Amino acid sequence: MPNVIRQWKLVARPTGLVAPSDLQLSESPFPTIQDGQALARVKYLSIDPTMRVWMADIPQYMPPVALGDVMRSFGLAEIVESRHPDFKKGDKVSGLTGLQDYVLIDGKEPRSFQKLPSIPFLSDTNFLGLLGINGLTAYFGLLEIGKPQSGETLVISAAAGATGSIVGQIGKIHGCRVVGIAGSDEKCQWIKDDLGFDAAINYKHPGWKQQLVAATPNGIDIDFENVGGEIMQAVLDRMNLHGRVVLCGLISGYTREDPAMASFGQVLMKRLRVEGFIILDYASRFMDAGKQLGMWKMMGKLKDRQTIVKGLEKAPEAINMLFEGKNIGKLIVEL
Ligand SMILES: NC(=O)c1ccc[n+]([C@@H]2O[C@H](COP(=O)([O-])OP(=O)(O)OC[C@H]3O[C@@H](n4cnc5c(N)ncnc54)[C@H](OP(=O)(O)O)[C@@H]3O)[C@@H](O)[C@H]2O)c1
Repeated sequence: MPNVIRQWKLVARPTGLVAPSDLQLSESPFPTIQDGQALARVKYLSIDPTMRVWMADIPQYMPPVALGDVMRSFGLAEIVESRHPDFKKGDKVSGLTGLQDYVLIDGKEPRSFQKLPSIPFLSDTNFLGLLGINGLTAYFGLLEIGKPQSGETLVISAAAGATGSIVGQIGKIHGCRVVGIAGSDEKCQWIKDDLGFDAAINYKHPGWKQQLVAATPNGIDIDFENVGGEIMQAVLDRMNLHGRVVLCGLISGYTREDPAMASFGQVLMKRLRVEGFIILDYASRFMDAGKQLGMWKMMGKLKDRQTIVKGLEKAPEAINMLFEGKNIGKLIVEL
C-alpha cells in the first residue's frame, strides 16, 4: 500500500475551460479504516460534462464542489481492505469516487457505492458508460420523455458521445428515423456506418443546416438535446407540431460565464413538450433499465465505444476534452 492518497482538489473556479491553476494535485496521508468502512483503489474515472457544472458556483441539482475539496466524479474501484459489512476485498464497486487514486467508503452512506455484478460479456468500463449514467440517461430520457413511436424522426446532438450514441441506437430499436449531429467526419461515419443511424451531420461543415433540412424531410418529432445554443435552435426550427424536446444537457453553455439561453420561441409556436430531467430522478428503476441495456448489448443491438486516457495526472486535461470534442463514446481516465 502507498503512504499517501493522490487527490485532485478544486482550488479555483474555472472561467471557460479548466485551467491548470483550477485543480491542484495534492497528497493526503493514507487512511486507516475503522469499523463500518472500506478502502477501494480507483481503477477508472468517469469523465462527465457535469463535472464542469459542479465546479461552478451556480444553482444546480447538487451542491457545487467546495473550494479545497477533492473534485467530485463518478468512478469504478476495487475494494482492497474492508471492515464494512457489505463489501469484501476484491469486490468491484461504482459510485462517487472523486478524482483520487483511493477512496474511503463509509458505512454511513451505504448506498453511495454499488457492488458490480460479474457478467462475462461486459467489461468493467461498460459499467461507467453503457450501463452507467450514460446508458441510463439515454434509456429514461428517450423512453420516458421522448416517447418514441415507430416512423417518427429523432434528432440527437452530441450524437457520437457517451449518451448520444446510445440514444440513437435505442431510437433505432423503437423504429425511429434517427439523425445524429456531431463534430467530425470520423464521428459521423461511426454513428452512421457502425451504429446504424439513418443520417449523420457534421455541424462544423458549412451548410450543415441545409443538410439537417434534407435529412429530416418529414420534420422532427423528438429532439434529444445535449448541446443547446445554435444547434438546438436549428433543430427547434424543424420540429413538428406537438413534438417532444428531451432537455438532457446544454454543453455548449457550460464553459461560458454567461451561458446563452436558447430561444424558446419555437416551443411556443409549435406547442412543443419540453422536459428537463436529471437521471437521478429515476434511481429506483436503474436495476430494471440496466437489465434491458445489458440484454440489448448481449444481443448485439447496442454497441459502445470508449476513449481512454491513462493516468490520474491527466484528469483535468480529460475534462477539457469533452468541451473540445476530443472523445468518441465514453471518456474514461484509467488509473
Ligand atoms: N440530464 C442528465 O441527467 C444527464 C446525464 C448525463 C449527461 N447529461 C448531458 O448529456 C450531454 C452529453 O454528455 P456525455 O456525458 O454523453 O458527453 P459526451 O457526449 O460523451 O461528450 C461531450 C460531447 O459534446 C460535444 N460538444 C462539446 N462542446 C460542444 C459545443 N460547444 N457545441 C456542440 N457540441 C459540443 C462534443 O462532441 P462534438 O465533437 O460532437 O462537438 C463532445 O464530445 C451533456 O450535455 C451532459 O451534461 C445529462
